[in-house]
Amino acid sequence: MSDKFDKYLPYGRQSISEEDINAVVDILRGDWLTMGPTVERFENMFASYIGAAHAVSFSSGTAALHAAMHVAGVSPEDNVILPSFTFAATANSVVYCGGKPIFADMSRDTLCLDPESASVVAQKAGGPVKVIAPVSYAGYPADIGEFKKIAARHGALVVEDASHALGAARGDKKIGVEADMTVFSFHPVKHITTAEGGMVTTNSSDFAKHLKLFRSHGLVRDKKDFVRPYEGAWDNDMIEIGYNYRLNEISCALGESQMKRLPSFVARRRKIASLYREKLSSLSGLSLPPDHPGHSYHIFAIWVANGRRNEAFEFLRQSGIGVQVHYVPVHLHTYYRQKFGCKEGDFPVTENFSAGQLSIPMFPDMTDEHVDFVAGKIKESLS
Ligand SMILES: Cc1ncc(COP(=O)(O)O)c(C=O)c1O
Repeated sequence: MSDKFDKYLPYGRQSISEEDINAVVDILRGDWLTMGPTVERFENMFASYIGAAHAVSFSSGTAALHAAMHVAGVSPEDNVILPSFTFAATANSVVYCGGKPIFADMSRDTLCLDPESASVVAQKAGGPVKVIAPVSYAGYPADIGEFKKIAARHGALVVEDASHALGAARGDKKIGVEADMTVFSFHPVKHITTAEGGMVTTNSSDFAKHLKLFRSHGLVRDKKDFVRPYEGAWDNDMIEIGYNYRLNEISCALGESQMKRLPSFVARRRKIASLYREKLSSLSGLSLPPDHPGHSYHIFAIWVANGRRNEAFEFLRQSGIGVQVHYVPVHLHTYYRQKFGCKEGDFPVTENFSAGQLSIPMFPDMTDEHVDFVAGKIKESLS
């Protein structure tokens, strides 16, 4: 290979066009750097792509998760059921609200939260279950209908962490329409980027309004939203504690421009996945990730058998391939062990999968040659 990835091929990377650059430059030449018209335009474009009634932008996926948990009503002593096999932010957002993350095991068939395990831990939670929070891991569309059934038994809501799953779908339903609230991330390795950024989609206008309140200090300006008497056009009232979690105009312009190429990004990711399948499916000592027609392939998560993952990781890194591990199970992080008494052995499927997991390069600007190179090096690493 002879290109900019000669020395190092990352596992994920943004794809930036001249149009993206011009969109950002236009904002810098204009009047609004934050709180201007681009925010709403990006949100409307996003909502209409997903098919949801509302999309509310945030300064990161983590801020979006925090807001969604708050708006779902997670308060001290409330339980939230979620997979341990996720990024720490899913669980952290529950802790920010004072709630208790109750982990459940994953399914090897989907690599997502196992509905059976979620149902069992919800029953044993020993307190109110406020939210079930499945994660569409790697871009595999989690079966939200299943989780809604479990949530209904507890009077809980479903908040989906779809940080990996923009563009994923089950049948004709895009991820982002079924859950009560769905969270996306726009970190540079994700399907589209705004540098940092996130979004919550929902069909509830009450949730959308509350999400906007939370992202901007808990302040209202409209007379009809005041709790105390309104004193005039200059007045504003802080009706609950909020944050500055707003996404700026520069990021929204980049997001808007990136959204135009989202269908081609997803198509290229699917193509790369099918090339990997062609080249790697006959290799022994390796499992390939579950496929689904609506998979949007944020990550291509392989599993290396026979305890050889770390060896493969080192070999591939030395070959200039930026493999990663997604994830160390959240219940095994020191914070969760110390604060919530989690321990090894709690979630055997998760621990076993995590011990062999490897994320290999997957991003739209990768060429077929890069895929060949990665597949060849994986074969070498296991020979
Ligand atoms: C599953 C999951 N949840 C949440 C996040 C947090 O998103 P952000 O980095 O935009 O805060 C990420 C980001 O990597 C993620 O992968």
